[in-house]
Amino acid sequence: MGNGKLPVYFLLSMLLIGTGGTTKYEPNWKSIDSRPLPEWYDQAKFGIFIHWGVFSVPSFGSEWFWWYWQKQKVKPYVDFMKKNYPPNFKYQDFAPQFTAEFFDAKEWTDIFASSGAKYIVLTTKHHEVDVGPKRDLVEEVASALRANSDLRLGLYHSLFEWFNPLFELDAANDFTTNYFPTAKTLPELHELVVKYKPEVLWSDGDGDAPDEYWNSTGFLAWLYNDSPVRDTVVTNDRWGFGSICKHGGYYTCADRYQPEHLLDRKWENCMTIDTKSWGYRRNAPLSDFLSVQQLVATLVETVSCGGNLLMNIGPTHDGRISPIFEERLRQMGQWLKVNGASIYNTTAWRVQQDAVTPKIWYTFKPQENSIFALLLEWPNNGSVILSEPVTQGHTQVMLVGHGLLEWEPVKPSGLRVLLPQLAIGQMPCQWAWALMLTGAT
Ligand SMILES: *[C@@H]1O[C@H](CO)[C@@H](O)[C@H](O)[C@H]1NC(C)=O
Ligand SMILES: *[C@@H]1O[C@H](CO)[C@@H](O)[C@H](O)[C@H]1NC(C)=O
Ligand SMILES: *[C@@H]1O[C@H](CO)[C@@H](O)[C@H](O)[C@H]1NC(C)=O
Repeated sequence: MGNGKLPVYFLLSMLLIGTGGTTKYEPNWKSIDSRPLPEWYDQAKFGIFIHWGVFSVPSFGSEWFWWYWQKQKVKPYVDFMKKNYPPNFKYQDFAPQFTAEFFDAKEWTDIFASSGAKYIVLTTKHHEVDVGPKRDLVEEVASALRANSDLRLGLYHSLFEWFNPLFELDAANDFTTNYFPTAKTLPELHELVVKYKPEVLWSDGDGDAPDEYWNSTGFLAWLYNDSPVRDTVVTNDRWGFGSICKHGGYYTCADRYQPEHLLDRKWENCMTIDTKSWGYRRNAPLSDFLSVQQLVATLVETVSCGGNLLMNIGPTHDGRISPIFEERLRQMGQWLKVNGASIYNTTAWRVQQDAVTPKIWYTFKPQENSIFALLLEWPNNGSVILSEPVTQGHTQVMLVGHGLLEWEPVKPSGLRVLLPQLAIGQMPCQWAWALMLTGAT
């Protein structure tokens, strides 16, 4: 290294690059929102959401069971309780039945890893309270994940609790007091971070209270400056009334959010395979579950528009991942095994959806200068038109998992790709197909 003297600009850039190095975040949104999102999250593209809690015991209706039954007195919930439980049965009486006797964190990890997901987000506390079997289930999942996979751990946490008397007191005071965050939420969040070191902190349930009440920017400044996961942790945008889609880490904006265009910030589409619920439902019919074709299409559209997909499953009270969820996860993995190059580590391209063939969505890999055109349908006439790429003589088109294909330019712009005649068993995959273009722009 020459005379051992480093140029000043090099030293300066070293200081600036080191994540968590010199940057100190301040407890205000301007500073918190300026933090660059750790790179791993955008590269990962696909995560698994897991709603598991006392609501998995009744496993009826949805994870909002307690609220719909006791607060809103929604008829099917009230009837279900009348018919099946003694009159004085309380929600808390479900807790001893959250038994988890079949729960095996290693088995869960194997299923998660087979799906091709790169992170999970596990509910620690929904909007109710934390009770359970006398085991640290979060610790078991965290350890199994770290020992047996390269998936990262994320934790879901609800700021408020529906029926907590301290929260009700603060609410009655129009949130001018903050007994509940001081006594419960903030200590709990610190404990979760220090104990389990999650790399996603998925906040939810602001209870219509402002972020000042929750001291969200104070907590996030600690998380980004001083916590054990300050270099790699990502958070979402649900940190107080009005913060969603506006402040925090990445945007979620709404459940099942699918903007179908680019946003000026990284975002995540959280959705659930059982279209009617996030928690397990014993009486869910097959028709309520999304098919793997629909799930692959959702992943493709989400990634094409710059988002990550967080796909939810609801395990049972006794710790099983039911075969329908397991099958969907394994199918996603089969598809990603062939087509992962068109998803992981990609960025959005200059166009998302093809103007002429709308069942085509694009992704882009800048390092290799390759454009991916993802076909949600296999054309039955032997060719497909990509109207967006600009070709050159040396442009190459490859069907991922198969090989090079012939193509010809079309007017006014784009190309027609000639597809091979393949029997089902000869296709590289069954649910969406990726064309990789090199030498095109
Ligand atoms: C808010 O959080 C910060 C960081 O944890 C802490 O220093 C501060 O005392 C908190 N403020 C209140 C009012 O709780
Ligand atoms: C994505 O890029 C990162 C960093 O360059 C690398 O470590 C990782 O293996 C890549 N992932 C895939 C699936 O290609
Ligand atoms: C072939 O079918 C695709 C849709 O599957 C359509 O966009 C295209 O125009 C068709 N090509 C011809 C030559 O008919």
